[in-house]
Parts: sequence; structure tokens; C-alpha cells
Amino acid sequence: MKIAFFDTKSYDIEVFEPKLKQSKIRYKFYDTRLNEDCVVLAKGCDAVCVFVNDVVNKDVIDQLSEYGVKIIALRCAGFNNVDYKYAAQKGITVVRVPAYSPYAVAEHAMSLLLTSTRKIHKAYIRTRDFNFSLQGLTGFDLHGKTVGVIGTGKIGKVFIDICKGFGMKVLAYDKFPADIPDVEYKTLDEVYRESDILSFHCPLTDDTRHMFNLGTLGKIKPGVVIINTSRGALTDADALLEGIKTKKIGAACLDVYEEESGYFYEDLSDSIIDDDTLSRLISMPNVIVTSHQAFLTKEALQNIAETTIDNVLTIDSGKECPNIVI
Ligand code: NAI
Repeated sequence: MKIAFFDTKSYDIEVFEPKLKQSKIRYKFYDTRLNEDCVVLAKGCDAVCVFVNDVVNKDVIDQLSEYGVKIIALRCAGFNNVDYKYAAQKGITVVRVPAYSPYAVAEHAMSLLLTSTRKIHKAYIRTRDFNFSLQGLTGFDLHGKTVGVIGTGKIGKVFIDICKGFGMKVLAYDKFPADIPDVEYKTLDEVYRESDILSFHCPLTDDTRHMFNLGTLGKIKPGVVIINTSRGALTDADALLEGIKTKKIGAACLDVYEEESGYFYEDLSDSIIDDDTLSRLISMPNVIVTSHQAFLTKEALQNIAETTIDNVLTIDSGKECPNIVI
């Protein structure tokens, strides 16, 4: 078994390499992303291991199939970047890591919310410059506020628990509602209308793409805080920007961005960013952007590496794997 790892960073190699050596799997780490131009790097491999911004479309899958690649192993939960139905037609199995630490993502969502509501991002910069003024740093209590959680799966549920700990009232919307104590399910529009804070935790699908859009701005409470740690395309970036500019949105906390693939995970501090929407959002005092880092905890990375290797070995041995994307 030989695996080509794409879009790898030092923190991936640190956790994967010892486990790969132990399992006797041969491997190659590439820092480039998988796409039509560099799919050739998978030649001679039985599997490719990809992350959230690798492009695994029909063209790439055709090439992988030609090279005899049998497994596409996502080292993440979301799989919207892989044409998994086409891969199945080509006899390639797609696997993912459905859960590695819902706590990592839910805790990051709460970190962003607290940073935003208590203006920690501003205070940190001020005190480093020995500016101890509190002018403009007034926040608001989370206690007693209503949070609307959209998607109440593994991450949404942990986020709900955290919010309950803060004494918040929880409303929820999910295509498949669960039975969660002290959580009231409502229609999406009702959640939009009644929430002081909205947090997105559902997957990106045709149904959920731009579920927050320009039309939504007419439904939300003025001053609502938007949190998106799921996938950028759930919240239309132009609608977010419009909401911020017209002050309908009080703040936005974004760990994901619809067009993130050209920017996130890279140091572009010396470059001119040609995405005006991203630049404008980042320039706003009430927008916090992190670079798709919600998953990035030691615990999550260990779990990702273990499950990914286990997925590949299980499929290779012909056994049933519970993490196949179908
Ligand atoms: P999950 O599968 O446990 O939960 C997803 C929930 O969304 C389910 O309850 C499902 O019923 C609901 N859902 C599906 N379609 C829906 C629709 N059309 N409308 C409303 N709800 C719908 O997934 P989990 O583990 O909670 O992850 C959620 C998302 O978080 C992933 O799909 C992924 O995109 C994102 N994620 C982001 C990370 C980051 O680093 N920022 C890391 C891990 C996941």
C-alpha cells in the first residue's frame, strides 16, 4: 500500500508519519493541492489522501482511475470537494473521517463568538501597544441571549451544550431534528427572525448552499452575530458584506469562506489579495476571519491520522468500512 498525501502541512506530517511507519504503509507527502495539474503525482500509488480544498472532480478521478488508484481518503469530515458518486462509478472508494473532535470545532465557534462579543481581538492589539483605554470595547452578555443553531449533528450538539452553559436560550433548525433537551426546533425563517446569534453547523449540499443570502437580511434581528465554522458557501459572502455595511449584521465570525481555496492555509502577507469581498470583510472591525482552523487541535489531528490510516487498511483488506462516503 502506497499513499500520496496532498496539501500536507508540517502539523499533518508530525502526526501521520510515525503512524505510517508503524503500519508499514509507504507514503509521499506533497504540499501541493490535488487538482488536474498535479494529479500525476499520484502515479504508482494505491490511495490518495486529501483535505478540504483539494479538487477531486471528474477529470482528476479519471486520471486517478487510469493510474490504478483505488482509494480516496479524505482526512476531514466534509466531502463536498469530491465527486464521490463518479468515483464510485470508476470503482474508487471514497472514505472520510466523520468525527474526530466535534469539541475542536464547537469550541472554536464559541472562541470566535466570545472574541467578537467582548472585542478581545481589539483589546489584545491595544494592550500590546500599552494602550489601556476601554473606549469602544463595550460588549454584551451572552447569558439570556437566543442562539439559533443550524445543523444539530455532532458539532451542533456540542455547541448547544456550550451555549447552555452560558445560560443561553437555544433554537434550532435541522432537516432531521433530534431530541435534545431544552432545545426548540423551529423553521429556518423562525430561527433567523428570533435569534441574537446564528451558528451554522450543517454540511454543504445543494439544499444548504447560500442558505444565508441577500433575502435573509430582511428576516434577521438587527445586530445579529453570524458564526460560520462549517463551509463558506452556506453563507453568501456578498450577503454577509451587505449585512455588515448596512449594519443589519452586528458581527460575523468566519472560519470558512466560499472562495477560501485560493487563500486559506497559505501565508499571503506579502501579496495583493484580488478577492475584494474577502479583503473588505477582513477590513471590517466587527468581522473576525480565521483560516479554516476550527479542526486544529492536537486531539483532532491524532484522531484524524488514526482513522484515516485505519480506513485505508480496512478497505485494502476487503473488510467493511463504516466511513465510506455513499
Ligand atoms: P453531522 O453529519 O454530525 O451533522 C450535520 C447536521 O446537519 C445533521 O444533523 C444533519 O441532519 C444536518 N443537515 C443536513 N442537511 C441539512 C439541511 N439541508 N438543512 C439543515 N440541516 C441539515 O456533521 P458534523 O460533524 O456536525 O459537521 C458539520 C459540518 O461541519 C461538516 O459538514 C463540515 O462541513 C463542517 N466542519 C468544519 C470544520 C472546520 O475545521 N471548520 C471541521 C469539521 C467539520
